Amino acid sequence: MKVAVLGAAGGIGQALALLLKTQLPSGSELSLYDIAPVTPGVAVDLSHIPTAVVTKGFCGEDASPALEGADIVLISAGVARKPGMDRSDLFNVNAGIVRNLVNQVAKTAPEALIGIITNPVNTTVAIAAEALKKAGVYHPAKLFGVTTLDIIRSNTFVAELKGLEPDSLEVPVIGGHSGVTILPLLSQVKGVSFSEQEVTELTRRIQNAGTEVVEAKAGGGSATLSMGQAAARFGLSLVRALQGEANVIECAYVESDGNLSRFFAQPLLLGRNGLEQRLPLGTLSEFEQQSLHNMLSVLKQDIELGVNFINQ
Ligand code: NAD
Ligand code: LMR
Repeated sequence: MKVAVLGAAGGIGQALALLLKTQLPSGSELSLYDIAPVTPGVAVDLSHIPTAVVTKGFCGEDASPALEGADIVLISAGVARKPGMDRSDLFNVNAGIVRNLVNQVAKTAPEALIGIITNPVNTTVAIAAEALKKAGVYHPAKLFGVTTLDIIRSNTFVAELKGLEPDSLEVPVIGGHSGVTILPLLSQVKGVSFSEQEVTELTRRIQNAGTEVVEAKAGGGSATLSMGQAAARFGLSLVRALQGEANVIECAYVESDGNLSRFFAQPLLLGRNGLEQRLPLGTLSEFEQQSLHNMLSVLKQDIELGVNFINQ
């Protein structure tokens, strides 16, 4: 199993690389790429940790040495928010970075599963899909927008509120990854009930959790450590699915059946080919149905922006 991280010298990249170095199955290869010249050094640093995961680092403009033979490519390259910015403000810089890197993946590792972390995810996944399509190697089952941070945050916040073990919870989060497009399905959390006020406040906190970190870091960036953990969880789920483990389920933002919007985050069954099956959204409360309805125009606009970036 070879996992490549693009953007590996960054805040998320380094945290993710550390977790993968310690948690990938023995015999795996971890390939780190970033434009920053420190990247080979990050790999040397990690290589001193005693696990049977070979770690190599690459820098410069050409990502292909890092991508050769990759089974999974996780992309966190790009700029992060500062206070006062929305995720959509990152589009101008990150759209081109994602297009460039995905084009390189298309050439060198066209069969790899791709996880896009770079924001704005609602749009960068559409960019990646259209770039892969243009290159003639778009496999919708192999492209994922990583929304796992919304799930782990939801689990944490619900556990805090209800005095439960975070590990015992799994809150499905559907839609996209920004503002109102983040919709935790609190009505589906087993064995827990919420008042109307709790639902409103928790939903708002989960939707604004990225901003909570951006403001707390006061200009020093956005979530990196919790995102490293989230990306490692998602990446390791992809590894387990590729290795044939049954019942690997994660929420992620993927090409959908088109009923709600072209790309949509929902629970997915993962397998040897990536996305095996989109799982039903289940029964939604009235609040969730209304929130779902309200997010769709935003999500569709975000997607259109990405499609137009490649095609116009
Ligand atoms: P960072 O600035 O710490 O790291 C970004 C890295 O990308 C840097 O090392 C930089 O050198 C590298 N980079 C820039 N252009 C590149 C290119 N063309 N090729 C290769 N590498 C390049 O930022 P970060 O905190 O790690 O965040 C990275 C991205 O992840 C941001 O867009 C951020 O908004 C996003 N993010 C997404 C989620 C999510 O839930 N999906 C969560 C947190 C952050
Ligand atoms: C997050 O949810 O923490 C990330 O998308 C980063 C951000 O800009 O909020």
